[in-house]
Amino acid sequence: MQSRDHFATRLGFVLAAAGSAVGLGNIWKFPYMTGQSGGGAFLLIYLGFVFTIGFSVMLAEFTIGRAGQRNPVGAFRALKDGPWSAVGGLGVLAGLVILSFYSVVGGWTIAYAVKAATGALAHSDPKSLGDTFGGFISEPWGVIGFHSLFMALTAGVIAGGVRGGIERASRILMPILAILVMILALRAVTLDGAEKGIAFFLTPDFSKVTWDTVNAALGQAFFSLSLGMGAMLTYASYLDKQVNLPRTAAQVTFLDTAFAIIAGFMILPAVFAFGFDPASGPGLTFITLPAVFAQMPLGQAFAFMFFALLAIAALTSAVSILEPVVAYLIDERRMPRRWAALLSGVMIWALGVPSALSLGPWKDMTVGGKGFLDAMDYLASNIMLPTGGVLIALFVGWSISARAQEEAQSDGSHPFPLIRVWIFICRFVAPAAVAWVLISGL
Ligand code: PHE
Repeated sequence: MQSRDHFATRLGFVLAAAGSAVGLGNIWKFPYMTGQSGGGAFLLIYLGFVFTIGFSVMLAEFTIGRAGQRNPVGAFRALKDGPWSAVGGLGVLAGLVILSFYSVVGGWTIAYAVKAATGALAHSDPKSLGDTFGGFISEPWGVIGFHSLFMALTAGVIAGGVRGGIERASRILMPILAILVMILALRAVTLDGAEKGIAFFLTPDFSKVTWDTVNAALGQAFFSLSLGMGAMLTYASYLDKQVNLPRTAAQVTFLDTAFAIIAGFMILPAVFAFGFDPASGPGLTFITLPAVFAQMPLGQAFAFMFFALLAIAALTSAVSILEPVVAYLIDERRMPRRWAALLSGVMIWALGVPSALSLGPWKDMTVGGKGFLDAMDYLASNIMLPTGGVLIALFVGWSISARAQEEAQSDGSHPFPLIRVWIFICRFVAPAAVAWVLISGL
C-alpha cells in the first residue's frame, strides 16, 4: 500500500469537512425545499433529524474512516469480513448520482457570477428576473458548457490531490461567504413585506406536514451534512489518531446548520416581499436573490461576489463527493489518481447531461412525475443517502460497537460523555426512524 496523505492539522480537517457540508445544499436547496414543504414545520423536523441522526451518522462515518484508513469499500472490509463492504459500494454509486446533478447547478452558479459581472442581472423587476433564469436554463449550450466547466474544475482539483489548495482556499473564502450571506439576510429581512416570509419560515404549521415533508427533511439532513455515501468517511481516513472526533462532528454539524438557517433568512423574506411563489422549486434562489441585489447599493458587485463565492462553496463540496469514487478506484482498482479522476469525471459528466437539459429542452421528459434533475436528486437524497446512513449506523452500533467506541474516543484520550446515547441512536433510533420514513413513503 502506498502511504496515505494526511491532513496536517485539526483545523484543516474541520475546514475541509465543513467545506464539504456547506454548499449548494444549504444555500440553494434548503431555502427552496423549505418553500415547497410549508416553512416552519419543515425547519423543525429538519433540525430534529440533524441533531439526532445526522450528528450520530457523522460521528459513525468519522469513526469508520479513521479506523479503516481507506476508501469506503476498503474501510468496511478492513474492519469486518463479509458483505458490509457493499455499503461502501452503495456510497460510491450515490456519489456518481449526486455529483451528476450537483455539477449542473454548480455550473449555474458560475454562469450567474458571469451574468452579474456583465450587468445582465441588474434589473429589479421580478418578472424579468424569472425570464432571465428561464431563458438561461432553456438554452442547452450554455447550461452544458458551464456544467462541463464545473466538472472539469472538480476533477482537476482531485487529480492534483490538492487538498492543501482547497483547504487553504476554504480557510479564506468560507468566512467571506458567511459574512456576505449575513449581510444579504439582513437586507432581506428589512425589505418591505419581509414579515410574511419570516413568519412562514419560523411558524410551524403542522397541518401542512405530509410524509413527503418528513422524507424531504430526512433526505435534506443527510444531503446537507454530506452523510450516507462515505464522503465524511473518506475525509476521516486521512486523519490522525489524536483528533477529537465527537467534538469535530459537533462543530461541523453546527456550522452547516447555521449556514442553512441564515440562507433561509436571506431567501424566504425576499420571496414574500417580491411576491414570488415559495414553492417554485430549484430556480427560487436564482430568481429571488438578484431582486434583493437590485435593492442594494453596489448591488452588482455584491451579486458577483455572492455567486462567485457560492461557486467556490459548491466546488469544495463537489470535491468531497468525487474523492470517495476516486479513492475507491485508486485503492481497490489500482488506478493512478489522474486516470481515476479523468475516468470518473467523464462518466459523471455524461450522467449529468440529461439533468442539465431537464429544466429546458427536455422539460417534458419526466421520471416518476419529476424532471430528470429532480428525480436524480430524489433518488440520491431521499433513498440512497438515508439507506446508506442507516447501514453505517447499524455497522457501528452492532457489528463493530466496541472497536467503534474506542476509536470515537481516541482510545481513551478524548472521553465522550454521550457515548452510550450515540450507540443507542446508531442501534435503534436511526434505523427505526429511517425505516419508518422510507417504508411509509412507499
Ligand atoms: N453537503 C453538500 C451540500 O450541502 C453536498 C454533499 C452531499 C456533499 C453528499 C458530499 C456528500 O452542498
